[in-house]
Amino acid sequence: MIGIYDSGSGGLSVLREILKILPREKYVYYADNAFCPYGEKTPEFIRQRGRIITEYLLGRGADIIVIACNTATGAAISTLRKEYANVPFIGMEPAVKPAALSSKSGIIGVLATAGTLKASKYLNTKGIYEGDVKIVEHVGVGFVELVEKGILDGPEAERTVRASLAPLLDAGADRIVLGCTHYPFLIAPIERIAGSGVQIIDPAPSVARHLLEVMEEKGLRKSDASVSVSPDLEIVASGDDAPSKRLYELVLKDIKDKQYA
Ligand code: DGL
Repeated sequence: MIGIYDSGSGGLSVLREILKILPREKYVYYADNAFCPYGEKTPEFIRQRGRIITEYLLGRGADIIVIACNTATGAAISTLRKEYANVPFIGMEPAVKPAALSSKSGIIGVLATAGTLKASKYLNTKGIYEGDVKIVEHVGVGFVELVEKGILDGPEAERTVRASLAPLLDAGADRIVLGCTHYPFLIAPIERIAGSGVQIIDPAPSVARHLLEVMEEKGLRKSDASVSVSPDLEIVASGDDAPSKRLYELVLKDIKDKQYA
């Protein structure tokens, strides 16, 4: 079983990409929404939540865990890898590399939570590329709250997205990295406001491919590929599970529309 977690519904944007290439595995998705947002919490608090959720997912039979949250990856993945040495953890990585390598203006924008922008994991990656490109950063202020409420577009989303995108666009960024798994759910207003000259980069597809590689390497793929037609997924939450279930219905519809279109 694949365990996957986030501070709330954001990790479903990663699960969406995983289901496209691993549709027949068994999943338990844990939304830690009683403690959402993680963005402003201390690293120690996020590590402690990581331990509790890891114990829960292992108890449910997980043989691999996807931390579908940039903030939790930054704060907790190295500790969890040390403390649970026999468990493979897959984490998020803000896609600074593809943005830096493809930028024409030489300026890239990173949208992420305050926690991610302070984490050494991100700072190390940034250090590799900031000699080649200028990196401008901004927190997606209010983005996580909108997604948790299921507000993915409309006037309020437009206003919120515009406020955090403006400093990146004004600086001349032609690539914008989505460094928080909630943000891809706001892709409609993000793309509209950024315009066609700006490419938006979401690391979720490459995280999904990495998961597939690790599962193959460790022999964790389900051998009977004919078992289920619809995804075998259970959503659990530390708070109310309704927001994640609602968003998951949209994710499922999105996958089906694209498959059968
Ligand atoms: N979705 C998470 C991330 O990727 C956390 C957002 C939050 O809870 O602040 O960073």
